[in-house]
Amino acid sequence: MEVLRRGGLVGLPTETVYGLAADAENELAVRRIFAVKGRPSTHPLIVHLANVDAVRTWVARLPPEAEALAAAFWPGPLTLVLPRSTRASDTVTGGQGTVAVRVPAHPVAQSVLAAFGGGLAAPSANRFGRVSPTRAEHVVADLGGDVDLVLDGGPSRVGVESTIVDLSGPAPALLRPGGVTREALEKVLGGPLPNRATNDVRAPGMLPSHYAPRAGLVLANRSEAAGLAAELLSAGRRVAVCAPEGLATPPGAVHLAVPEDVPGLARSLYQLLRSVDAAQVDVAVVVVPEEAGLGLAVLDRLRRAAAPRGPG
Ligand code: TXA
Ligand code: MG
Repeated sequence: MEVLRRGGLVGLPTETVYGLAADAENELAVRRIFAVKGRPSTHPLIVHLANVDAVRTWVARLPPEAEALAAAFWPGPLTLVLPRSTRASDTVTGGQGTVAVRVPAHPVAQSVLAAFGGGLAAPSANRFGRVSPTRAEHVVADLGGDVDLVLDGGPSRVGVESTIVDLSGPAPALLRPGGVTREALEKVLGGPLPNRATNDVRAPGMLPSHYAPRAGLVLANRSEAAGLAAELLSAGRRVAVCAPEGLATPPGAVHLAVPEDVPGLARSLYQLLRSVDAAQVDVAVVVVPEEAGLGLAVLDRLRRAAAPRGPG
């Protein structure tokens, strides 16, 4: 707590991924988050709070949809974008009129927030554009001495970031698929939750290339994976195949086993991307899940990880 009160940065376990947390009302501390991540200062941060009553002080108003979603999914892997109150500074919101808020479920995050009392701004605790951390060791490996304290809360239970729903416009919109499925949200909202069509690069998780390992990724169906891997091998590439245990892979390829179930795949997704790099291959063929439920978030991250890299 001392570390947070004096403006330090804490590696904080949440049920989605580890966050790089700082006092959301300390300008210098929030600026340090951007500096350490190497993240453009116009990309807004999520403010983490202990409960929905704490959220009320950070937003101008909580519309009925927000009350309903909060009751159904908080604490949990859901972030809501709402009109901000004066408590949310331009530094946190990237100068926008809205603020992103979330009540995380992880017991360590919960107890830190309860003891701290205020809001904690926390992006995922990785350098900009890189793979998100789902274990304390990942934070230490990626950020090293740039973080003042890392709390070890074990492996993240969900494994992909929170779902972001924008409730600041005329109708709810999905900004980022994540730990709460679109189907579950639509059930509570009582209607369809469309994607917000946007080219707004202020949302880094929405950049085409993000969450990226160093090796190239090729996404494949179960039936095409072995053939694709064989082609890449014969072209002289070092190849990994990320697929469930039972799937046959061509000799010469490294087989990285992934869980058969989608929640298991989501939980181990970022560890898998790290293993791809550790295997020192040029390219990994990844067998993808159906694009439904939690599979939507898994596919979203895999597509961004597979996207052509921009500069840097
Ligand atoms: O699961 C998570 O959400 C994790 C854990 C640590 O809570 N945090 C996380 O933060 O993924 P970050 O900074 O990596 O991603 C936050 C996303 C970004 O895409 C950002 O642009 C978007 O939230 N965001 C934040 N404030 C926003 C706003 N006012 N309007 C639209 N998007 C916003
Ligand atoms: Mg991130």
